[in-house]
Amino acid sequence: MKPAQLLVLPLVLQCSALALDNIQFPITGSCMDLGAVVRKYCPELSPLEALYKHVHQHPELSGRELQTASLISEHLRGLGLNVTKGVGGHGVVGVLRNGDGPVVLLRAELDALPIQELTGLPFASTQFMEDSWGRRQPVMHACGHDMHMASLMGAAQLLLNARSEWTGTVVVLFQPNEEHTGGAQAMIDDGLYEKIGIAYPDAVFAQHLMQTPTGSVSIKPGPVLVSAETVRIRMFSSEGYIANPQRSVDVSVVVSKVILALQELVREVSKGGSYASIYTEEMHAGEPGADWVSHADIVLDVKAYDPAIRSQLLNGIKLIVEREASISGAVRRPEITVSERAPLTTNNPDLSKQLRGVFTKFFGHGNVLEGVPTHPCEDFSRLATPVGAPYVFWFLGRADPRLLDRARKDGVRFADVIPIEHSPYNAPLIHPTLETGIYALSLAALSVLTVPSS
Ligand SMILES: *[C@@H]1O[C@H](CO)[C@@H](O)[C@H](O)[C@H]1NC(C)=O
Repeated sequence: MKPAQLLVLPLVLQCSALALDNIQFPITGSCMDLGAVVRKYCPELSPLEALYKHVHQHPELSGRELQTASLISEHLRGLGLNVTKGVGGHGVVGVLRNGDGPVVLLRAELDALPIQELTGLPFASTQFMEDSWGRRQPVMHACGHDMHMASLMGAAQLLLNARSEWTGTVVVLFQPNEEHTGGAQAMIDDGLYEKIGIAYPDAVFAQHLMQTPTGSVSIKPGPVLVSAETVRIRMFSSEGYIANPQRSVDVSVVVSKVILALQELVREVSKGGSYASIYTEEMHAGEPGADWVSHADIVLDVKAYDPAIRSQLLNGIKLIVEREASISGAVRRPEITVSERAPLTTNNPDLSKQLRGVFTKFFGHGNVLEGVPTHPCEDFSRLATPVGAPYVFWFLGRADPRLLDRARKDGVRFADVIPIEHSPYNAPLIHPTLETGIYALSLAALSVLTVPSS
């Protein structure tokens, strides 16, 4: 993660007065300048900032995004888009048809997290709600979905304002239930493309906040988000009272050995430098007060970028679990179920190179980064892959460069100064994050739509 230059951040709520004006935009002059279009038609930011703050203060949990979806669909209707609600749960889709040409889909997410906000912001959430399992939970937009929504709304407005400059169709999609990585598939299963009368989009784009400097974007071809599998394992003890270990299997010891062996597996598999991770999310054995433990369960989160590494991890888990079960003398064979939590997200090489060029021209070299500092996963690509559409997912900086600079000077980790995604302290700098997000989405759309050269 290489932070960009320090930006001076004026508190002016106009795209045209954005800090990015300090940056040189190299002019190639060969084709229509998309930068000129987005600068000319950028909407007023204060209503979008108000939308951001409202959504931030009224977060809703995954699968329960009723109010947020209503608010978003009203805004889209207000703009004059054709809106379809209730797709795959609370999903909202706005369509802007503007003559013949390519179809571009831009996506944001509606849901927030069961986290108690500790930012101390004047518009901090104090909300609680019941989750899908009936538990009362605090709720917070700790993953930036509020900023994604405000940026996408801004981009919809920009592209609407600029409709004389392009032809084609823009689809703005607000996906429910991203945090459980189920919403994108639910929208597809609910007949998303049939419902909006579009066979397939020519390109699909999304962005995600990241702990990089505000005013910057990070984009690269190829794998950008890890694949994630949930592996559920049940191992069995044998008949016999635990006070007679010579005649029984202590399944707690067996699963402990499995967990340690899995860490050796990770080390072995990642020796060539590839990313691999196995995280033990849960382990349970027995019931409090009961002196008979019939089985133990562990739940693993398995992550990788490389499909070959993913297979090595999954095969390795199976071998280790069966080996330890067999050594223990358990009569019943272990049960292993693997379910995909998130697919690998791999940016289309040509489209991401093209977009990187567009971003570099507009934001300047110092503000277009490559790094993907952490290993997040997402279900975004499920909107594109079933219809064979190319997609690009990039990261949008949100961190105060002054804090990043201080971390660098003090030699401390950025994570100690800038809260990460899903932290209760996560408080993105609103400007110029919002306008950068609007510009990035609009530029991506225009780079695919038909823009006649003037
Ligand atoms: C909405 O749908 C109608 C009917 O298909 C179409 O004529 C109109 O252009 C659409 N409006 C937008 C903004 O896409």
